[in-house]
Amino acid sequence: MLDRPELPTLEDSARPSLFPAPVESNLRSERERLLARFRDRLVVRPELNRRIVSYQANKTHPGLRWFKYKEGFSADLVRGFLDVADGPVLDPFAGLGTTVLVAGGRCRQAVGIEIMPVGARAAQAIATVADGVCPESLKAAFFGLLQAVAGANDSPVDCRFPHVRITEHAFSPETEAAIARARSFIASVEDDSLRLILDVACMSVLEEVSYTRKDGQYLRWDRRCGRKLRGGMHKGRIPGFEEALLRRIQQIVTDAPALKRLYGGRAPKIVEGSALRELPLLDDESVGLTITSPPYANRYDYTRTYALELAWLGLDRSAFGRLRQDLVSATVENRSKKPLLADTYPRPDMLALSEKAITRQSALSEALEALERCRRQLSNPHVIRLVENYFSEMALAVAELSRITRPGGRVVMVNDNVQYHGEEIPVDLILSDIAEYCGFECEEISVLPRGKGNSSQQMGKFGRRELRKCVYSWRRT
Ligand SMILES: C[S@@+](CC[C@H](N)C(=O)[O-])C[C@H]1O[C@@H](n2cnc3c(N)ncnc32)[C@H](O)[C@@H]1O
Repeated sequence: MLDRPELPTLEDSARPSLFPAPVESNLRSERERLLARFRDRLVVRPELNRRIVSYQANKTHPGLRWFKYKEGFSADLVRGFLDVADGPVLDPFAGLGTTVLVAGGRCRQAVGIEIMPVGARAAQAIATVADGVCPESLKAAFFGLLQAVAGANDSPVDCRFPHVRITEHAFSPETEAAIARARSFIASVEDDSLRLILDVACMSVLEEVSYTRKDGQYLRWDRRCGRKLRGGMHKGRIPGFEEALLRRIQQIVTDAPALKRLYGGRAPKIVEGSALRELPLLDDESVGLTITSPPYANRYDYTRTYALELAWLGLDRSAFGRLRQDLVSATVENRSKKPLLADTYPRPDMLALSEKAITRQSALSEALEALERCRRQLSNPHVIRLVENYFSEMALAVAELSRITRPGGRVVMVNDNVQYHGEEIPVDLILSDIAEYCGFECEEISVLPRGKGNSSQQMGKFGRRELRKCVYSWRRT
């Protein structure tokens, strides 16, 4: 387990040759100047390894292991930072609810906001089990579900998996039939908590029993799926729905007592919605600590990778489209939210603050101009729009965090830098500069010892370059 990471002490930190002191006269670009400004706060932290900062350490963790949310960070990371500030805890990009579950387990008041119903529902199911469900009722419900899945009865037509175009052919006919039987049974369960847990148990095995695999930006498809594919992978043995579900149910039953011990302190509030709609509703200075990880500006499209789960939850094609546009812009398909925000945002002062913070961010302007110059060589020219929209939305989130954080309170944020066509976008420095403009002091940008390599395509053209993977610590002044 991670020891509580000490907040920055300049003496003990590994002041790295990675960030050599620049010679003042050599500072040619805005990005170099920004790096020079934050150089003292960039600290390589060997204790922040990839396992801790990703979902990997959760693979054996009660509750959090039920659903493979690859975008998550670990409960150990949250534990490591939980004591850096008192008061209510917030995660505006809550995913599986790791932050709020751990905080609730320590009896802290905690609120998580998550736009993807997949994460929000899974988090609610874990929190429900942690809060305590009657073990007998849970076992009886699971028994009923497994019996229904194993039965040979045909299910009503409206219980079939509600496919959208991008999920068609994901399952074998036997798995389709078993899924329909499960859906029919779940619809008949009257108790809301039990229905939620059964629903999430089934949702959590969809990838495993399908011809797909989540892979960064996309779903990859197995050659046996019956779709017309170029290439396609071989996933190996694919278990039946009943087999995978039984394994998950055993895990849930095994984990329930430990979950209650770990997270049963104070039930967190998990809001399904957009941070850009929910943050303005929070009171000034009402939060002591935010531990969060927003989407990265890396083109990953959650609505594609979680297509099976979103379809399971009943999203149709237009709901997919709406969700994609509501997510913080991280894909080339995201359009600007500016016109909508200008018309509807309930706190124009925060919108104005974030716009000012962006306008004066010269390293961002420089990076956007550089991308504009190589527009034709970009694999998709809309990455320019992506980068611009990403920062304007994140600036608004940062402005709101500044308003709602108590003086002395802290924000801890995990994020990766990105690069397009050899142009590095120092997300850590740009967001920390915006945070300082909005009223935070950036105490430290903790850098993982190993960054993220650039893509093989980019490596071929621009050489190997490690992109910083960081945890930022900002203190509200
Ligand atoms: C990197 S993940 C965070 C995962 C989380 N730390 C965990 O441990 O599970 C970023 C999350 O932000 C969510 N997200 C993206 N846009 C959002 C928005 N506008 N409002 C709220 N959540 C959003 C994504 O759905 C995703 O779950």
